Amino acid sequence: MVLLRSLILSASVAALAVFSNAAPAPNPNPGSPEAPTDACGALAATNPTELKYKHVVDCYNSIPFDSAQAAITLATVLTIFRDLYVFTDSALARTAPAPFVNAPHDVLGELEKIGRSKYTSDYKFHNDILAAVDGLGDGHAAYGVSCYESYIFAQNLTLYVPVVNGEQASTFLSVRIYNDEAKRGYDDCVVETINDEDALTYLRTYARDKFGQSHDTNARLNFMLASQDYDTASGRFADTPGMFSQRSSVPQGPHLDYRLKCPHLDEAVELREEWKVLPQIETAFSDSASYVKNVCLAPLENDAPPVESGILRRRNEPIHRITKRAESGTTPPPAGPQFPSAEVLLTGNATAFYHLKDRPDTGVLVCYTFMPSDPEAEKDVILAGLNAFHAQNVTNILVDFQGNTGGSIELSAFLVQMLFPNKDPLDAAFPSDMRVSKSILELARLSFNHSDVSYFNAHDFVDFSNGTAVYESNDLFDKPITQTRNGRNSLWTEKTTLKFPPVAAEYMDAVASFPWTAKADNIRILTDGRCVSACGMASYFWTALHNVAAYAIGGTHGEDLSMFSFAGASVLKLEELQGFYKAANMTSPLTDLPYKNSITFSWLEMYGKGRTTPLEYDAELYRPKHRLDFTPENARSREVMWKEVAAAAWK
Ligand SMILES: *[C@@H]1O[C@H](CO)[C@@H](O)[C@H](O)[C@H]1NC(C)=O
Ligand SMILES: *[C@@H]1O[C@H](CO)[C@@H](O)[C@H](O)[C@H]1NC(C)=O
Ligand SMILES: *[C@@H]1O[C@H](CO)[C@@H](O)[C@H](O)[C@H]1NC(C)=O
Ligand SMILES: *[C@@H]1O[C@H](CO)[C@@H](O)[C@H](O)[C@H]1NC(C)=O
Ligand SMILES: *[C@@H]1O[C@H](CO)[C@@H](O)[C@H](O)[C@H]1NC(C)=O
Ligand SMILES: *[C@@H]1O[C@H](CO)[C@@H](O)[C@H](O)[C@H]1NC(C)=O
Repeated sequence: MVLLRSLILSASVAALAVFSNAAPAPNPNPGSPEAPTDACGALAATNPTELKYKHVVDCYNSIPFDSAQAAITLATVLTIFRDLYVFTDSALARTAPAPFVNAPHDVLGELEKIGRSKYTSDYKFHNDILAAVDGLGDGHAAYGVSCYESYIFAQNLTLYVPVVNGEQASTFLSVRIYNDEAKRGYDDCVVETINDEDALTYLRTYARDKFGQSHDTNARLNFMLASQDYDTASGRFADTPGMFSQRSSVPQGPHLDYRLKCPHLDEAVELREEWKVLPQIETAFSDSASYVKNVCLAPLENDAPPVESGILRRRNEPIHRITKRAESGTTPPPAGPQFPSAEVLLTGNATAFYHLKDRPDTGVLVCYTFMPSDPEAEKDVILAGLNAFHAQNVTNILVDFQGNTGGSIELSAFLVQMLFPNKDPLDAAFPSDMRVSKSILELARLSFNHSDVSYFNAHDFVDFSNGTAVYESNDLFDKPITQTRNGRNSLWTEKTTLKFPPVAAEYMDAVASFPWTAKADNIRILTDGRCVSACGMASYFWTALHNVAAYAIGGTHGEDLSMFSFAGASVLKLEELQGFYKAANMTSPLTDLPYKNSITFSWLEMYGKGRTTPLEYDAELYRPKHRLDFTPENARSREVMWKEVAAAAWK
């Protein structure tokens, strides 16, 4: 149980790169006469503010391919996706019901193809593995090496796709400028083309082919485009550029071409916008060899820990916060309340409670993560927030899940029960199962008698044949069953579920008499699909089991949009798994990677109640009851958006 307490379901623990440091110290001899000839040397010698796309790409391309290292890397990644990852076979499904669009993806086939290919470029080799993993469309499955994620690429223009009132249907779907960092007056200009292609087509193609966080193109679009996210430090909603305009992966070319149509200008505006390059590492290097040694390679066992540290996040790390450090002259947020008539009642480190003053019966519970620094303390914040609503005579609650990064399964199940207390002990628990490979079986056997060794410990799982009691034997792993999926056989555990302690009676007693408790008519969810992992799990329980209606905003006007993304599994990091084997005194079947890396994968899959398709692939459970569009007004003010939803929900 000790380990399970810290179990995380979000991709936000999944690291891509190391971000805890500011921009590197400027080169001590900028403009020194002996210009370096080595590509990484040229990168190192360039002042951070002068960095161009080409500097980074030339350095990356100069890293020599080492076939021995590549063989180790590929073998480890193959083992993960062959023996441990839970969706390897599910991903082969031929049909994807709406709102999903995923084509069958054979991750093993792709990896084996890489193994048969001849490489001269190390960079291309790692990019191909990344593409094989991203093609799964599962935000929990991630491949990243620090070597090729040391710089962020950003555009000065950020984009969104609002519906503008009074326009003809044909112009409904126009891509527009959300923000022009260079302040040239282009905000809300229509983007007619990107790289000479119709702008929306261009973005949707990118969302479909290049972006791997959801099985739904429209949810992907929302991740890619500009939006607002709650910022704990300032207690305000702040603009975020979206993962199209700000990337940690290297763009296709040095610039993007845009054609804009602005209301105040007769002529179309043609722009060629270069990528800004923002360093994310402090590690010193002076040429390709030292780049490999200091940035790429993992330190040897007894070396001092790397300079970079801290919580490493992958896909949901709001990059804007990171790059802020790399840019000078960012203005502090203005003081005073952000909204004229949405009053802040209380804020925590995962939730914030607002009261709509002109709809005094409505409270907004903003829940932007399930991974606060102290989940136990956040439980008290949630109770205090609900009490504050009650003190204001609130009867209707809008839960705003936009941009929720996921996190603790336990906190998510807690929030579910604070609005809908369990009738049966396992109401907020998912039927789940795990792959049983030979090495997992061995690990499980050792874990069984050593409670702190790994997550693969039958004592932490409910034996459905014995009510809500946990396994008293290792049968969960010792007696696996064969499941055939899309023509492939694998060994799986029986259905089980993670055992967590019940929510304390003091909480359940406190919420019992609130006017909204267990009343679906008094509760609504607002989401843009950027509600991942544990957030999707809470959404599933409220919508599918308790009949709460959800409003999903954004995507493409007139099309479906998932309420949440990659909600169907729990995530594990390669490093953690290696730690499990070490704690069990076992030889891991996986060799450590030569490069500093962050590899994550789903190890436990979940099902909706009574469903036979894993939740990750159960598209029907992702569809919201109601759809909304972004407008220039609601995309820039949560208060406006909340009032629209409240007016539609409670007439
Ligand atoms: C982005 O805008 C800033 C501020 O106006 C400007 O200094 C910078 O050159 C622009 N960057 C690019 C790549 O256009
Ligand atoms: C929120 O985080 C701040 C800063 O880390 C901390 O001081 C505070 O105690 C936290 N509050 C809760 C409820 O966890
Ligand atoms: C809530 O309702 C009660 C009873 O009608 C009333 O006395 C009280 O003033 C109301 N509180 C607020 C904050 O409006
Ligand atoms: C755990 O320990 C008990 C008592 O020593 C032993 O009988 C049992 O076989 C062990 N279980 C596993 C799975 O190794
Ligand atoms: C069922 O659970 C109880 C504890 O609640 C335990 O004593 C018993 O051994 C379990 N039975 C089996 C067959 O595991
Ligand atoms: C691993 O070895 C250490 C040191 O010998 C021992 O204390 C520990 O109990 C062992 N762990 C397991 C799971 O056997």
